[in-house]
Amino acid sequence: MTNTECYGLLDGPGADTYRPPKRNGMANREGGDVGFGDTDWFTHDRFGMFIHWGLYALPARHEWVKNRERITDDDYQKYFDHFEPDLYDPASWARDAKAAGMKYAVITSKHHEGFCLWDSQLTDYKATNTPIGRDLLREWVEAFRSEGLKVGFYHSVIDWHHDQFPVDRVHPRRDDEVYREATRERDVAKYAEYLHGQTRELLTNYGKIDIMWFDFSYDEKGRDAWRSEELVKLVRELQPEIIINDRLDYPESADFVTPEQYQPRETPTRNGQKVVWEACQTLNGSWGYDRDNLDWKSPELLVKLLIDSVSKDGNVLLNVGPTGRGEFDPRARETLARIGEWTRVNGRSIYGAGPSEFTAPVDCRFTQRRDRLYLHVFSWPMVHIHLEGLAGRIDYAQFLHDASEVRCSESDPHVQPQNTTLPGAEGTVLLQLPIQKPDVLVPVIELFLK
Ligand code: GLC
Repeated sequence: MTNTECYGLLDGPGADTYRPPKRNGMANREGGDVGFGDTDWFTHDRFGMFIHWGLYALPARHEWVKNRERITDDDYQKYFDHFEPDLYDPASWARDAKAAGMKYAVITSKHHEGFCLWDSQLTDYKATNTPIGRDLLREWVEAFRSEGLKVGFYHSVIDWHHDQFPVDRVHPRRDDEVYREATRERDVAKYAEYLHGQTRELLTNYGKIDIMWFDFSYDEKGRDAWRSEELVKLVRELQPEIIINDRLDYPESADFVTPEQYQPRETPTRNGQKVVWEACQTLNGSWGYDRDNLDWKSPELLVKLLIDSVSKDGNVLLNVGPTGRGEFDPRARETLARIGEWTRVNGRSIYGAGPSEFTAPVDCRFTQRRDRLYLHVFSWPMVHIHLEGLAGRIDYAQFLHDASEVRCSESDPHVQPQNTTLPGAEGTVLLQLPIQKPDVLVPVIELFLK
């Protein structure tokens, strides 16, 4: 077989300054001048940590426990009275996030249960009034910032504790006719005042906030209930550089979209145009700490989710649900550490990288950063990978994790298959791999393009 060797090292690109092509968050922003944040850093950084932490860490059976079990405020009170995360050390959370390769983090300032992690002046239902007696959010923001991570707040627009939040079909008391009747006069406009007031607090008292992640709208409550237009205006006034997600039922205002617990088949579009996106994923199907849940995703699956997202120009926000003592579950820490082993040596294919114009072979994903093409091998093949359309384009190939050469040659289409002779195909490059899969979760081959 006559194969032409295609070696020759290129000068390394000034890779770190590369940004994927800029794109507005939501395409086709009709409906007024809503402004939008700068997603450049976001599409560069690719990987963030989501943190769901609240009173639901105590029952430890999913953050929707109040809803699922239709728990009354009185019965839920025991979690407030016993909330004392004495081992809380946000600096260690931040170190874990950073070591996993995460570049930003988003924490629940308040989830649907209504409990506030910060010292809000607008409610008594807050961490400072529990046995722990501290503003946990302030400590968190400081710790994550000092590790160099960008910070964001997940803020629930739904509130199952507020006395003006109308009982609807997703409220914990939905089936209690007497309660529904007794609360019929609730005024969502008054609740909206509270929502806006708390948003003002969060975006005024904690320095620069990079992401506002509101959650969520549904058939019974949306932009009218939350007064979304005004809310977005307020957010952008207080934090002009902030980026906002897409769950306020006000799509024109969103900087990015948020597929939840599924992996998009291709780059998501709105009005026919590709948009900035971030998939949010759990470690085990629950966002809050869920003690008896054993449905843990493997580190390999999670790394593949990250790669697949970047190959489709997306981010991953991977969630951890800390315990009622204030720690990450050991199973979560182990998974984060394994992911970190991978990102530490393979991060070049993730940060500042995006999709490629080339089509990846079966069971592989391409990402690209300028003149470096990254081939992620999801399923280890028998010796050869054929790269179609890359003949004449590759200067050098190596494994990313250890910089060991991967032999690479161009196929000769005129060669006939015979015994051990591999048939060639027009325009195709052949990579020659070892029989043994390298000991990394997902091997990456770095291809230096001409
Ligand atoms: C959903 C759930 C919620 C979780 C969130 C994360 O909207 O209500 O529990 O916080 O998604 O994306």
